[in-house]
Formats: sequence, C-alpha cells, structure tokens
Amino acid sequence: MTSATLEIHLTDEDLTAALREDARRGLTATPKSLPPKWFYDARGSELFEQITELPEYYPTRTEWALLERVVGEIARTAQAEVLVELGAGSAAKTRLLLSALNAEGPLKTYVPQDVSTTALRAAADQVASEFPGLAVHGVVSDFTDTLDNLPRGGRRMIAFLGGTIGNLIPRERAEFLAGIHDVLEPGEQLLIGAGLVIDPAVLVPAYDDAAGVTAQFNRNVLRVLNNRLNADFDPEKFAHIALWDAEREWIEMRLEATEAMTVTVRDLDLTVEFAAGEQMRTEISAKFRRAGFEKELDTAGFATEQVWTDPDQRFALFLAERRY
Ligand SMILES: C[S@@+](CC[C@H](N)C(=O)[O-])C[C@H]1O[C@@H](n2cnc3c(N)ncnc32)[C@H](O)[C@@H]1O
Repeated sequence: MTSATLEIHLTDEDLTAALREDARRGLTATPKSLPPKWFYDARGSELFEQITELPEYYPTRTEWALLERVVGEIARTAQAEVLVELGAGSAAKTRLLLSALNAEGPLKTYVPQDVSTTALRAAADQVASEFPGLAVHGVVSDFTDTLDNLPRGGRRMIAFLGGTIGNLIPRERAEFLAGIHDVLEPGEQLLIGAGLVIDPAVLVPAYDDAAGVTAQFNRNVLRVLNNRLNADFDPEKFAHIALWDAEREWIEMRLEATEAMTVTVRDLDLTVEFAAGEQMRTEISAKFRRAGFEKELDTAGFATEQVWTDPDQRFALFLAERRY
C-alpha cells in the first residue's frame, strides 16, 4: 500500500508551549481574544468538516463548484511539479486540483501542510492511496510562524484554499503573503481561495447555523484550553456570537459569558474573571473585494494572472505568480 510521509515541525510539546503563550496573552488582554488555530484539535477538525456540509455554509460548496469549472485552466497555467497546500485540512477539494495537475503531466509531489497532525495524517494517507504515482509528504507546522520548512525544488504552486486567508488580520496577512513570496522562486505560483464581500443576510448564517455546529466549533477552543492547560472552562456557559463588521468587512466570532465567572488555568497559575455578557474574540473571517486583494498580492510581490468567481460572486480564486 502507498503511504504518505509526515514531517513534524510542531510536536505536542511545541503546541502546548505556543498555546501557553497565546492563552496568557489573550486571556489577560482587554478585550480578551484567542487565535483561531486553537480550534483545530482532532474534535475541532472534525467539527469543521461538519460545518462544510451545513446548508448555510456556502463557501465550501461554492469553491468546490468553482474549482470543478476552472481546475483545467489552473493546471495548464501552473504546470506545477509540486503542489504545496497550506492549511490543507481534509484536502477534500484538493483532489480536483491534483487530478487536473496529474492530467496535465508534470505533477510529482503533493505537500499538504497543517497545524492539526490527526487531520493531516488522514488526508495525506487518503491522497496517497487515491493517487498511487504521487509522492505525498505532509508537513505539520504553523503557517503564521514559519514557511521555511516547506520543501524547495521542482516547479511549485502553493495553494491556500477555503478562505482561510480571511482568518488573518490585515497585518498578519501582509506578513504571510510576504513570507510566501520569500519561499517561492520567481515564476512560481500561488493559488488563493477567498470569500468575497456579499450580503450579510447570507454571510452571517454561514457562521451561525441553525443546527448549532458552528457554536460547538467555537466553544471547542475552551475544551482545548481545558485539555492542554488544565483550565476549568464550562463551555456551555459561553454563547456563540457571529457578527458582520461592515467597516472592516469581516465576520467576527466571539464567545460571550452568559454569567459572571472565575476560570482557573491551572498550568499557567492564572485566574481569569469574566463579567456577565463579556465577549472574547475567537476568529475573524475577512471577506474581500477583487481589486483590493489584487493590490495586497501586488504589494507582496505577486502579479495576479487570473481571477475566477462563481456566478453569484460569493467566492474567488486568485492565481498569482511571484514577480521578482
Ligand atoms: C477553514 S479550514 C480550511 C480547510 C481546507 N483547506 C478547506 O478548504 O476546507 C482551516 C485549516 O487550516 C488549518 N490551520 C489553521 N490555522 C493554521 C496555522 N496557523 N497553521 C497551519 N494550519 C492552520 C486548520 O487546521 C484547518 O485545517
């Protein structure tokens, strides 16, 4: 049986150390906040997969249909020998891209990257069994920390799908795009899937579904703190909130304390007070306008080659080349 190799740059100890830092900073700040990468333990990754199938969650199925329509064009333009995918998750949609690149000829290696070891291992093994001639080499790392551990050599395309780019605040996004520019060679490509600014009446329910799966996903960050840092959050005492910030053009997910609480994070020797109604930010999901994002790509040293959108203009795929 073909199996994938896995390169681990983030051990369990590294993750705990990073979470300690983020939790101390985020829980002692005003207002409190936590970075979204901590949703994704095994349970969080599984909940995200459930979200992608919800009737309200249009991004995954929109990007899927868009990819189905344009992967041939992407593969012809890219002629990639190596596909690197950041935040690959289950890599479900990536199959479309891999098949198209395979049909085009030169594809030799797929490098899925993610912070979640369990999700990555499962995705990498699955792809290896579906594409027997393909070398599959997973990388467990944090794309906001370093991209230096991505493999070099071969003509590469980096894919970043699912609208995950929107989870970075503008400053982080600029640093991230500059970091990708630095690991690519001139002429190599970047494919980004990004949600577009649309009617909040469609947008908000995508992050606040009727079945409450996104609420569970949001509260999962508290379970991660309980499990990894011996905290004693009662997740059910936090309400899930999703808001559209029209000025900054992003969805903000928050957790709201339903009553006054004192929470102890034992491994940090930290006591955290929550007032009734206090809100803590857990994720942003920025939405983009085509011209604005092309400008961000340009600033980072990329020339946009092509942009595809779905008929309702809800989601876009940007294919860009490192310019210099
Ligand atoms: C919104 S999901 C998208 C998954 C998949 N690409 C898709 O399109 O359905 C975000 C993915 O990025 C991963 N992720 C989030 N923050 C990360 C980070 N800082 N470094 C690496 N992976 C991260 C998560 O584990 C998750 O698999």
